[in-house]
Amino acid sequence: MYELDQSVTWKKLKQLAEDTRDDRIADYFAQDPERFQKMSVRLGGLFLDYSKNKLSDKVLTTLEQLAEHSPLRQRRAQMFSGDIINVTEKRPVLHIALRNRGPELVVVNGRDVMPDIHASLQKLEAFSNKVRDGEWLGYSGKPIRHIINIGIGGSDLGPNMVCRALHAYKHPNLSFHFVSNVDGQHIKKVLSGLDPETSLFIVSTKTFSTQETLLNANSAKRWFMASTGGTEADIGQHFVAVSTNKDAAMEFGIKQENIFEFWAWVGGRYSLWSSIGLPIALSIGYTLFIELLEGAYEMDRHFMEAPLRQNMPVLMALIGIWNTNFLGAETQAIIPYDQALHQLPSFLQQLDMESNGKSVDSEGKPVNYATGPIIWGQTGSNGQHAFFQLLHQGTRFVPIDFIASLPDDKETEEHQFALLTNMLAQANAFMNGDVIEGKLDYASCPGNRPSNVILLDQLNPRNLGALIALYEHKVFVQGAIWNINSFDQWGVQLGKRLATEISRNIERKSSDYDASTQGLLEIVRQRLTVNATKAEVVTQKTKTSKKQSTD
Ligand code: F6P
Repeated sequence: MYELDQSVTWKKLKQLAEDTRDDRIADYFAQDPERFQKMSVRLGGLFLDYSKNKLSDKVLTTLEQLAEHSPLRQRRAQMFSGDIINVTEKRPVLHIALRNRGPELVVVNGRDVMPDIHASLQKLEAFSNKVRDGEWLGYSGKPIRHIINIGIGGSDLGPNMVCRALHAYKHPNLSFHFVSNVDGQHIKKVLSGLDPETSLFIVSTKTFSTQETLLNANSAKRWFMASTGGTEADIGQHFVAVSTNKDAAMEFGIKQENIFEFWAWVGGRYSLWSSIGLPIALSIGYTLFIELLEGAYEMDRHFMEAPLRQNMPVLMALIGIWNTNFLGAETQAIIPYDQALHQLPSFLQQLDMESNGKSVDSEGKPVNYATGPIIWGQTGSNGQHAFFQLLHQGTRFVPIDFIASLPDDKETEEHQFALLTNMLAQANAFMNGDVIEGKLDYASCPGNRPSNVILLDQLNPRNLGALIALYEHKVFVQGAIWNINSFDQWGVQLGKRLATEISRNIERKSSDYDASTQGLLEIVRQRLTVNATKAEVVTQKTKTSKKQSTD
């Protein structure tokens, strides 16, 4: 029976946290001049330096034992062989199959799914080439210029982040927009700038039942019909869907041949490698989309084959567990010193927090140790002028992942050099601090604050694919060691159900809710009444004016 916090290794780590409480990270470097070389790993175009963590050799060795004694190896083998490891939804977890570039079969319910994956990639290739080459024409015979992805969560964050990160590779004639929030201002702002004749809407939703996406998709459809005087037939050239729910997509009015399917065994937050990545293929082209997948595949092989002590996802996961479960960190900061990665923290929020924000283990028992941290972040150097004050002199312990790519553009070299030296300076300052004569006063920084540094040779599709897969597998390793199911998300169902219920009840007073909800609903109702009255007045006026005009 796997009782993580009852294990000898766990107790050893608790003791080590005590024993090393007063250690200074800086002293570890003095004790071992080889520390940087020993505590850094390269894989292709990615370099991880984890030497600025509060990790003695003994702690690292004991963390490795924690991984060895956990279900990690077994769970990893199960994932790659298509076993049902998402036990509450009774599904395998196979985002790794989407980018499988090798000869391995991937069997689901007794059937190799690789042919289906290859077929979906061929469809993605054909369609993205047609649109990018101007062969896909709108109803009035014009090529597409604007692409609008309508989706939320994993049907938005992944493609959105990758398209922004790889903006340098974007097709020059195409503009991309991502509508996710149900707030009408979001879609209203995007639609206001569009030409319907050259717009292509991608309705991205795994379930085709998400309230925000359906509301936005219907508003887009109404806008298209109104602004083109078009018919249901015309939407065929301007609306495609990415979903596992083909029937619902066709009911919405999407032509069967314009539905890009994927499968229930792909989690939403792990789905950018599937047809959910259609905006990416449209933006950077199919060939580079495959390079994104190849980068992830290389990280998959590394995760499967590298010894734990040299295994990037395992190392990042163990460092995170050390910081969270033994040093008391409640959050993990993600600070990309790369403006193109400004959406990476938001993407990693869903990836990590929707995966490991759990408090019941795989056997259904409440856990009595901390699990997923709060992921947050912002680009550097901006963060230095917003929240680094707290990180340097505050009372909280916040581990940081710094991420950057090396300069590759002569034109901006001076800027990139400043950006990188700022990042290195910050990582150094967090570790060393500057306690003057041992006295902590208003001006001094205590230091001893850990960080990882991940350097990409270049922010290109291959390295970005590897970086994303690195974090996917880090989340996987932590979930395996915490013995939780990282692949369901029952916690979001309650909010969805209540939102539907309350929106249905908005018109009537309902004692089903607490006094606060009822009171707030009353205020909303009053505004709706005011708006409805205003609308009536406007309609009356229009009628009157019409009467006047026809009289
Ligand atoms: O947040 C809950 C969730 O189900 C996510 O897991 C998912 O990525 C998102 O909503 C959107 O779901 P769908 O792609 O089915 O619209």
